[in-house]
Amino acid sequence: MNSLLRPVALTCLFLVLILVEATDPNDPGYKGSLLPPATHMLKEKVTPLHFYVHNMICGPIPTVMPVAGLMAEPGFGSVFIMNDPLTQGPELNSKLLGRAQGLYAFVEDKGMSMVTAVNYVFLEGKYKGSSLSIMGRSDAFDGVRELPVVGGTGLFRLARGYALAKTLFLNLTNGNTIIEYDVFVIHY
Ligand SMILES: *[C@@H]1O[C@H](CO)[C@@H](O)[C@H](O)[C@H]1NC(C)=O
Repeated sequence: MNSLLRPVALTCLFLVLILVEATDPNDPGYKGSLLPPATHMLKEKVTPLHFYVHNMICGPIPTVMPVAGLMAEPGFGSVFIMNDPLTQGPELNSKLLGRAQGLYAFVEDKGMSMVTAVNYVFLEGKYKGSSLSIMGRSDAFDGVRELPVVGGTGLFRLARGYALAKTLFLNLTNGNTIIEYDVFVIHY
């Protein structure tokens, strides 16, 4: 084999092994059923959810990481990866329900409009192990942002709905925010 290709081949083999490992349906770590809900079980449920997300750019444990574009002063092209705590109450030390993991990118020359793609992963309570995927437009200048729920896993399999997000608190010194979410989920 061409010596230049060898590292590439090794990397590919490694990725394939990871994928095989990650998709093993006999993995006892997977708690849910692999089968879709039976037709007679397809009864719609509406679940309202209410939680807070702590977007911490600065501080001892930052939960937001700039990965591209203008980072010091977010503008067109700035991209951030986030792994934010999701809590029951507005205080950071209130009950941790899960994490908001995803990315957001600024898409306007002037303004604060963003494309967001975030998975809300629940780690506690009834929805432990389930997740919601929310993707849409968010403008930091809007009082309330509406974002579509585009899907989910576990108890939120086949989910759809919408989320209303509003900034409850903005620290002007370090840019940290607490965002309050009201989510209406239709699932089965
Ligand atoms: C805002 O951020 C500054 C700088 O990190 C910090 O000293 C201050 O305590 C924060 N204010 C609040 C109300 O959290």
